[in-house]
Amino acid sequence: MTVRIDSATRNQLQEWEKELETQYQRICQHELNLDLTRGKPSAEQLHLSDRLDGILNGDYRSPDGIDTRNYGGLDGLPCSRALGADILQVPTEEVMAGGNSSLTLMYHAVLTGYLFGFAGTKPWREMAAPKFLCPVPGYDRHFTICEQLGIGMVNVPMTATGPDMDTVEKLVREDQEIIGMWCVPKFSNPTGVTYNQDTVTRLAQLGQVANPGFRIFWDNAYAIHDLDQHVNLPSIRSATIENDTTDSVIQFASTSKVTHAGAGIAFVSASSANLDSLKKQMQAMTIGPDKVNQLRHSRLFPEFTLLKEHMQQHAEILKPKFECVLKHLENAFGDSDLGSWEKPHGGYFISFDTRPGCATEVVRLAAEAGVKLTPAGATFPYGKDPENRNIRIAPSFPPLEELDTAMSVLVLCIKLASVREQLQKA
Ligand SMILES: Cc1ncc(COP(=O)(O)O)c(C=O)c1O
Repeated sequence: MTVRIDSATRNQLQEWEKELETQYQRICQHELNLDLTRGKPSAEQLHLSDRLDGILNGDYRSPDGIDTRNYGGLDGLPCSRALGADILQVPTEEVMAGGNSSLTLMYHAVLTGYLFGFAGTKPWREMAAPKFLCPVPGYDRHFTICEQLGIGMVNVPMTATGPDMDTVEKLVREDQEIIGMWCVPKFSNPTGVTYNQDTVTRLAQLGQVANPGFRIFWDNAYAIHDLDQHVNLPSIRSATIENDTTDSVIQFASTSKVTHAGAGIAFVSASSANLDSLKKQMQAMTIGPDKVNQLRHSRLFPEFTLLKEHMQQHAEILKPKFECVLKHLENAFGDSDLGSWEKPHGGYFISFDTRPGCATEVVRLAAEAGVKLTPAGATFPYGKDPENRNIRIAPSFPPLEELDTAMSVLVLCIKLASVREQLQKA
């Protein structure tokens, strides 16, 4: 049944509600226990990297002759830095390879800016009200870092080509206490959008007008996570070189969704001045990262082409799951006024916008029917979606049949919540 709400009469709405309610009650009796919250690889994907176990076979020397079992090497192994450089498409000298989590590196980087300042600039904590620009919807854990440190957050809407740059430029020009910005530039979490050249160039130009301590946190978590055709992300590094703003961007990536999510390698890439600031703080915390694990990854991917082939195998597993979600949305809402969504060509998420005011109720109805969704609002700073619309769908983890069932439930809940909301207004 296609539901067009804006042109429906009250009687039609009441009838639809009755019909949907009956279907919903029937589904509730099935006592489902399904989960669409987890943006993590499935076991099948993790298996692709199981060769990591035992791959060293007693040989702990890196190609450069480093005994990886011992202390030291804050920058990471040269071969691992080269792997990060391939992923981020930057020179190896500009990369540090760390532990298993890029989120940890991001936290370190924010802390460095906050406590000490980057490259000789003023620590952010000395400002009256330091704040970050947050493209929304976005990644909740970025927002948690700011919230924990008391750094303010300013929402900036996402468009189909990246953050709304007119708004970004205006805010940065007018407020010198904007000292950071979160960006997931490729297959953005959760919208799946990849920034275009104009966006990347304009972001690189912000360093010319912003506070000298301003840094863009370029979280390229999905740099090599294409599902079908290769999607090109314009180089932020080249753009900052052209605009003489190389200190204004710090890039991040990891192998979390490449090998074993909890046991990979994370990378940070930045100008030498920024890397020096980061290392000054890090060397007080650690003598060096887990080089044994770094070496295991270099043995698994001695060449970048092998890594790319490996990512194709991930894509083969993920593609049917994305197609399943998109098929359900298209069939249910293709010619309706019940919501909108992007069709990503990679990454881990599909973002669905309900009619204004419906997201919380959709999540509640789905939970009662046994389908767990990410809480409404989670994709916004402070957990507050001003229009109560955004729902993040994470298709990677459940098996295809479970995903299919969960999507049928979700679609029904979206319809029911939308009709009820309209009835309240009518
Ligand atoms: C945009 C983004 N950045 C970072 C992470 C976490 O990365 P890591 O496992 O390297 O800490 C995720 C995980 O979902 C993510 O979506």
